Amino acid sequence: MTIEAWYMDTSDEDQRKPHRLEPNQPVSMEDLSRLGVFYWKLNADIYEADPELEKIRKEQGYSYMDIITIRKDTLPNYEDKLKMFFTEHLHLDDEIRYILDGRAYFDIRNKEDRWIRIAMSKGDLITLPAGIYHRFTLDETNYAKAMRLFVGEPVWKAYNRPADDFDIRHKYVASLQTS
Ligand code: LAC
Ligand code: NI
Repeated sequence: MTIEAWYMDTSDEDQRKPHRLEPNQPVSMEDLSRLGVFYWKLNADIYEADPELEKIRKEQGYSYMDIITIRKDTLPNYEDKLKMFFTEHLHLDDEIRYILDGRAYFDIRNKEDRWIRIAMSKGDLITLPAGIYHRFTLDETNYAKAMRLFVGEPVWKAYNRPADDFDIRHKYVASLQTS
């Protein structure tokens, strides 16, 4: 059960490219979990009646869910939304995404403020902790269908960086020091 992640280069070329360092510098699942990022691999072909997904939702309290198809012809204000998604931000709650089809990248900051790119494809469910700086982009295939999960009523509000004064940000940073 694994997912591929790597430290990013700093080039400002197309965000949809992989942006690997040369040579590649991989990031392990263990490194990700130390940053508070968790991961499950599921069978996305049966997401509508998947006992494994149901179990996770029950255990984690993910009562809310919806599905977003991120593609030029299906997502209103596609260009603006993608620009927004790729702007570094944080949320006051966990961000939980399950890729049902297609691919995407989630970029997160590590302790030293370096970007880590996480490659997500069909069947990957990820949780980003409240207070972590992150961003999102499609890859060069320009298509992802994702389930968005949430504990209770969803709050989509994103706070663009700098957003260092929130309690949740302090809490997140403190959690890194002890792990
Ligand atoms: C979100 C992703 C784009 O906040 O980070 O929906
Ligand atoms: Ni976000």
